[in-house]
Amino acid sequence: MKIIKVKDYNELSEAAAQFVLERVKQNPKLVLGLATGGTPEGMYKRLVDDHRTAGTSYKNVTTFNLDEYAGLKRTDESSYYAYMRHHLFDHIDVPEENIHLPNGEKEDLQAECSEYEQLIKEAGNIDLQVLGIGGNGHIGFNEPGTSFDSLTHVVTLEESTRKANARFFPSDAEVPTHALTMGIETIMRAKEIVMLISGESKAETAAQLFSGEANENFPASVLNNHPNTTVIIDEAALTKMKK
Ligand code: PGA
Repeated sequence: MKIIKVKDYNELSEAAAQFVLERVKQNPKLVLGLATGGTPEGMYKRLVDDHRTAGTSYKNVTTFNLDEYAGLKRTDESSYYAYMRHHLFDHIDVPEENIHLPNGEKEDLQAECSEYEQLIKEAGNIDLQVLGIGGNGHIGFNEPGTSFDSLTHVVTLEESTRKANARFFPSDAEVPTHALTMGIETIMRAKEIVMLISGESKAETAAQLFSGEANENFPASVLNNHPNTTVIIDEAALTKMKK
C-alpha cells in the first residue's frame, strides 16, 4: 500500500482528482470504479471544473459505481444514482450507456447483482477503483464479517452505517435497511485502487487499516493484499497513528 499524506480535505480532493485525471489521460477508455459519500465530493467538483476549463473528455470512459440502496427509486434524491448525476455525470461528457450503478429498484435483486458482476467482467474488470472507507472499515457496503470471496451481493446495512448516512436523507427512518454492493473479490480484481481518507472521525479507522493483517472483521484491511493500492490521507485522519 502506497500512502500519500496531504494537509487537509482541499489537498486531498486535489490529489485525488489529479490521480484520476492522470489515468483518464493515459487511457481514454479507462474503466473507472466510483464511490459516493461525503469524502469524494471535493474530488468530483475538481473533475467537473477540469472538464469545463481543460476539457478532459470521458467520452470513452466506462464507469461502475460500488453500490446503491435497495428499494429507492433512481429519481429519489438520496439514491446514489442521483448523487452521481448531481456531483459528476450531469457535468461531464460520459455517455449515459457507459454509466453503471447497481439498480436498487429491480424486483429480483439477486439477479441484478449477478448481472452487475457480469457487466464488470465483460468490461475487462475495473482499471482504477476509487474507494472511501466507513468508520467500521467497510468498503462499498461490505460490512464487517463479509467474506473476502464475495461478489456483488445484497447486504443488510449496519445500524452505524445507517446512522452515518442519515445526513443524506430527509429523516433517519428513511435510510434503507438494505443495499447492493460490489463484493470484496469484485473490488480486489481492480487493477489499481485509490482510497481516500479524511478527517478526525476516520483517524481510528485509518490506524486500524495501517496496523497490518487482512481480517474479514475489518473489510478494508483486505487492501493489504492488493498489489497496487494508494491511500490518500489528510493530517486529521493521521492523528491516531501508532508511532
Ligand atoms: P463518507 O463515507 O465518505 O461519507 O465518510 C465513506 C464510506 O462509508 O465508504
